[in-house]
Amino acid sequence: MKSITKHLLSICASILFVSQAMGQGNNYNQDYTKYDGLALTPPMGWNSWNKFACNIDEKLIKEIADDFVKSGMKDAGYTYINLDDCWHGDRDSLGFIHPDPKRFPSGMKALADYVHSKGLKIGVYSDAGSQTCGGRPGSRGYEFQDAMMYAKWGVDYLKYDWCNTDGLKAEGAYKTITAALKKAGRPIVLSICEWGNDKPWIWGPKVGHLWRTTGDIYNCFDCVEDHGTWKSLGVMQILDKQAGLRQYAGPGHWNDPDMLEVGNGMAVNEDRAHFAMWAMIAAPLIAGNDLRSMSQQTIDILTNKDVIAVNQDSLGIQGYQYSVKDKLETWFKPLMNGEWAVCFLNRNSNPQTINFDWNQQGLTDTLSKRTIDVKAGDYNMRNLWTKKNAGNTKKSLKAIVPAHDVLMFRLTRK
Ligand code: GLA
Repeated sequence: MKSITKHLLSICASILFVSQAMGQGNNYNQDYTKYDGLALTPPMGWNSWNKFACNIDEKLIKEIADDFVKSGMKDAGYTYINLDDCWHGDRDSLGFIHPDPKRFPSGMKALADYVHSKGLKIGVYSDAGSQTCGGRPGSRGYEFQDAMMYAKWGVDYLKYDWCNTDGLKAEGAYKTITAALKKAGRPIVLSICEWGNDKPWIWGPKVGHLWRTTGDIYNCFDCVEDHGTWKSLGVMQILDKQAGLRQYAGPGHWNDPDMLEVGNGMAVNEDRAHFAMWAMIAAPLIAGNDLRSMSQQTIDILTNKDVIAVNQDSLGIQGYQYSVKDKLETWFKPLMNGEWAVCFLNRNSNPQTINFDWNQQGLTDTLSKRTIDVKAGDYNMRNLWTKKNAGNTKKSLKAIVPAHDVLMFRLTRK
């Protein structure tokens, strides 16, 4: 009896010892959850890459911030000014990253203060690997230090790329930067940029606020650009790659079909179609052009408040392709309060005629279970590009969609 009690006591003592030891030695649980409540609608902003690539400095960024306000971009809802690749200088002897001292002589904190003073937010770029795609220092092994630095500067948005990541698993690598940002204590939007390689739409919603679904966009409406070891995709090619992904998007977590090429050289109708489709698929609206020298046509596209309202609708349901015939596509997007956006996209190089009878169609979205129910009452239609009343759904819609262009409407119950 005595020996059993002794034995039991010694087991209890060992359990106590082990649990104490575990408690002392490993009491830090990494928090891999992203900051919630950011990006409840698709983020809107500007990024330097599409137009300026590595050619960025503080003068440019300040001018862009000034023009955000002057051009009406800020009023239209654009908020983030994001520095892409190549802002980096070296790490110091302790491993902390600093901006390129020639291009950013006043430092990042001063630049962030300037951007914040305009009522805007600032973003930076890094990479999960040893080096960024542009060969600058990557964050691998420095994730917590980098996040601390971004928080100290006042950064609000981080685009985190995927070059030079041999041997890394995407989900784990992105979770590490998420944990680092959380630990640094400043709410920062995390833009996952691993090009859709490892299905980020599956694991991304908990880890970041948006995830690239494809490789890089190219400034053409309908082409593939071959760079030898990799290819970039035109606007239509990117759009096609969004098929099957809409169920993964919603408030706080978005599919990212890459930044806008509006104002970078496509024809005005193509820019309009590009912007309209990014609005329909609830894509982040990150302009990629030179805001200091925009044509009026470009301003009118980027700041079209009706089209932006479709993108920013608080239901956060990504639109879908309803039908395709002869390269004429019909897209729908359910909106708050039973409203709908509809967009006819003509991918053909000739104009196409629409004859759309609202009564003949079975207009139920199987994902959201919402219906355009014309039997229960007609909808008024507003043309979102001409800003004109376009009748109602009682009559068939008869119209012509010019080549590489869209017709886009908002349907509201009468
Ligand atoms: C990758 C990204 C681009 C851009 C460049 C910068 O290609 O996908 O969006 O950030 O790197 O080097």
